[in-house]
Amino acid sequence: MRLRQLGPLLLLLALPDRPIVLLLAVSPSDTVPRGANFNVSCRAEGSPAPAYRWTVPPAPNVHTSADNSTVSVAGADRHNRGVYVCRVSNAHGQHLGQVRIQVTDHRLIIAALIAGAAVLLLGGTAGLIYYLKSTACKKGEYNVQDAESSAKATCLGRDGAVYGIQLTQT
Ligand SMILES: *[C@@H]1O[C@H](CO)[C@@H](O)[C@H](O)[C@H]1NC(C)=O
Ligand SMILES: *[C@@H]1O[C@H](CO)[C@@H](O)[C@H](O)[C@H]1NC(C)=O
Repeated sequence: MRLRQLGPLLLLLALPDRPIVLLLAVSPSDTVPRGANFNVSCRAEGSPAPAYRWTVPPAPNVHTSADNSTVSVAGADRHNRGVYVCRVSNAHGQHLGQVRIQVTDHRLIIAALIAGAAVLLLGGTAGLIYYLKSTACKKGEYNVQDAESSAKATCLGRDGAVYGIQLTQT
């Protein structure tokens, strides 16, 4: 138990000069609405102080802070989604951390909803037309021999299909 708690400390003491990424943080969040700003900050430790380098999805709205530890994106769009890699290095080695950024686009969601509604509407209209056509049966032959008892008759459509129709008594 005691050894386990000491484990990470011993590791740090054994490798005091190698840079280690201590923190890779996205503010305000790694899921960004389109048009919003966000920062990805990298904090590393090492001796001598490590230099920061980034590999990020290329876009003109990406800027790096003076010490290269933070990447700022202004007005996020779909080009800004992807993996942001922070690489830290000094004479004794290097280390990296990475985080994936999602950019959500409400316009796409709205477009998808409208497309979905249009499909439903078209499908509904086609269904209604099919229903009206298949139940109209105006030009068929009518077999009304059982009509008096049941108030129902059979309608033979041109295509030979049999449709039920409702009769009103005269
Ligand atoms: C990003 O960092 C800059 C500079 O530190 C700060 O002014 C800005 O408010 C930060 N933006 C966000 C979204 O955290
Ligand atoms: C920041 O990064 C750029 C390009 O990667 C490099 O030329 C510059 O020296 C770096 N600055 C610092 C302070 O590490």
